[in-house]
Amino acid sequence: MVAYSEKVMEHFMHPRNVGEIADADGVGSVGNPVCGDMMTFYIKVADGRLADVKFKTFGCGAAIAVSSMVSEMAKGKTLDEARQITNRMVADELGGLPANKMHCSNLGADALRAAIEDYERKHGGEPKEEA
Ligand code: FES
Repeated sequence: MVAYSEKVMEHFMHPRNVGEIADADGVGSVGNPVCGDMMTFYIKVADGRLADVKFKTFGCGAAIAVSSMVSEMAKGKTLDEARQITNRMVADELGGLPANKMHCSNLGADALRAAIEDYERKHGGEPKEEA
């Protein structure tokens, strides 16, 4: 039995911002090479900020909790601030993940960044190099 933090369980049972944004400004999908799970983020941008963030995750409980947390952390942030969210920050914010589930935290921030890059491509901005 894997020991999840209470926060992970809570986000898994009640994930925030699940779904799709039909007229999204940016969409980013990432697959986890370790297990084949998939995560897609949808963003709406207004005044340089993430006005709305939604996700669809086909993955384990940890991946769903990670997506939910990323969506909460990203909402309202500027594109630059959101780009600075790292997988490690998300795992920390969730109160940690069991060692054999750390790979599940790899998708969240990456998928969000992919959505931001998609937005910038569509709107003529140069995608920034990843830190
Ligand atoms: Fe695939 Fe967790 S087992 S993301």
